[in-house]
Amino acid sequence: MRACAAPELVRDEVLELYGSVGWDAYTRDPEGLVRALAGSHRVVAARRDGRLVGLARSVSDGATVVYLQDVLVAPGEQRGGLGRRLLEELFAGYPGVRQRVLLTDDEDRQRAFYEALGFTEAHDHSPPLRAFVRFG
Ligand SMILES: CC(C)(COP(=O)(O)OP(=O)(O)OC[C@H]1O[C@@H](n2cnc3c(N)ncnc32)[C@H](O)[C@@H]1OP(=O)(O)O)[C@@H](O)C(=O)NCCC(=O)NCCS
Repeated sequence: MRACAAPELVRDEVLELYGSVGWDAYTRDPEGLVRALAGSHRVVAARRDGRLVGLARSVSDGATVVYLQDVLVAPGEQRGGLGRRLLEELFAGYPGVRQRVLLTDDEDRQRAFYEALGFTEAHDHSPPLRAFVRFG
């Protein structure tokens, strides 16, 4: 199984994958999710036997900053290295881009995943950083 650029995604398989990890804010608005994927700077995906089992997408200027928006792996495929491969493939599209940023849930498993990939929480960074967000 390989993570690769994904122009061929079909709406229903994307909805199924997002639903499998419980991301209702996306699945409640299928057309919004389709627009989000179409408007993403890069989308990479992984399939097993043709079935979509992982996806990651970014928002970026392509030069100085890349924001990771989503990375998700189907529950039955987690802890097999696929999340790592998806992000390696996604960020391979940004050689020379200095700043990689993301916002995620405040759970130990997300922290462990991103730290394993070399990310540092903003307030632990040296020098310390602040991250701000506003929804709605
Ligand atoms: C977060 C997620 C994408 C990780 O994908 P994954 O394929 O399971 O992760 P990997 O197998 O590539 O893990 C890479 C490393 O991250 C760490 N890690 C990943 N999941 C972890 C967990 N639940 N607990 C502790 N460490 C974890 C480990 O160090 C792991 O390496 P190891 O398996 O050799 O120990 C996946 O769990 C997922 O889709 N979760 C639901 C959606 C989500 O929360 N997405 C992230 C927020 S945007």
